[in-house]
Amino acid sequence: MTSKKIAVIPGDGIGKEAIPQAVRVLEATGAPLEFTHFDWGADRYLNDGTTVPADGFAMLARDFDAILVGAIGDPRVPSNIHAKEILLGMRFKMDLYANVRPVRLLDASLCPLKHIEPKDVDFVVIRENTEGAYVDSGGVFKQGTPDEIAIQEDINTRKGVERVIRYAFEYCAHNKKADGTPRTRVLMCDKSNAMTYAGGLWQRVFKAVGAEYPQIKSEHMYVDALCMQLVRDPRPFDVIVTNNMFGDIVTDVAAALQGGLGMAASGNIHPGKTSMFEPVHGSAPPLAGKNVANPMGAILTAAMMLGHLGLTKESQKIEAAVLEAVRQKKTTQDVGGSLGTKEVGEWVAKKVQSK
Ligand code: IPM
Ligand code: MN
Repeated sequence: MTSKKIAVIPGDGIGKEAIPQAVRVLEATGAPLEFTHFDWGADRYLNDGTTVPADGFAMLARDFDAILVGAIGDPRVPSNIHAKEILLGMRFKMDLYANVRPVRLLDASLCPLKHIEPKDVDFVVIRENTEGAYVDSGGVFKQGTPDEIAIQEDINTRKGVERVIRYAFEYCAHNKKADGTPRTRVLMCDKSNAMTYAGGLWQRVFKAVGAEYPQIKSEHMYVDALCMQLVRDPRPFDVIVTNNMFGDIVTDVAAALQGGLGMAASGNIHPGKTSMFEPVHGSAPPLAGKNVANPMGAILTAAMMLGHLGLTKESQKIEAAVLEAVRQKKTTQDVGGSLGTKEVGEWVAKKVQSK
């Protein structure tokens, strides 16, 4: 098999600690992978003012099979302009329209809810990733005066809404839960009782696309009710599809159900194009440089990347090793263990190697 070319962008803060552990675990799988590291992030930006070099996105799309990102964000760049240009730039300019965020509880001890077991939390959020309130459309007028006006537009295109909803139904049709049972339901979440124009489009498209999948149950919830229901009882959820901003919020709530942001994986995907994989957690400046950050989100994200590249066996090896680590508490403190970031990576890599 020809090797897969992986662009690695550790980025800032704990991204620089978690990603080396994810890479070490990837290497331990023995999968044919070739890594190229990029220094995009705050240090580079503060050094020479560049966020993404000229033609950076075209280069990634042309020369790589996938991109592994750590986290971008640094208090030394208060405007966060580099995060916007690098992270949102990749999502938007490479048209990675489906942000796939699996939510799976690996061990009952990680869930803050009583009586909830691993079999009860196994759903996925498909977040629209290229439009909505994130498109940077709007402006500030009369800034600094009592008449100041801030407008932030929420852009929803039929094409954008339709392709992500279709992705959710396809995902449901072709992916099973961890216990092998088929996925059967897609729930669309919006705020169409208040935001009638955008919500109306989502409703119409969801109905039309859903009709093409009669074997899949279509469901709907308003985003406020969904957030409440997720923490009351996460058991009924299977595939959730929603817009960019609601997806951002819902996936933080959902991350808490699986042990926090340190456990959450995600993929930014456009089928057939070079896609980008990044854990849900941010750069967490207060934790950076202390060897305390949980690398599991990054490691599970790496597994997701392998699955996407068709390296299924290797991907499953990583998931199995992480599961064992969590059960045996070979983890960082946030999820009940006492190991450091590096030691967790080392343990998981050894486990993967022995499989
Ligand atoms: C995420 C993050 C980003 C987002 C930030 C860093 C812009 O919170 O990936 O969930 O809002 O999409
Ligand atoms: Mn977020």
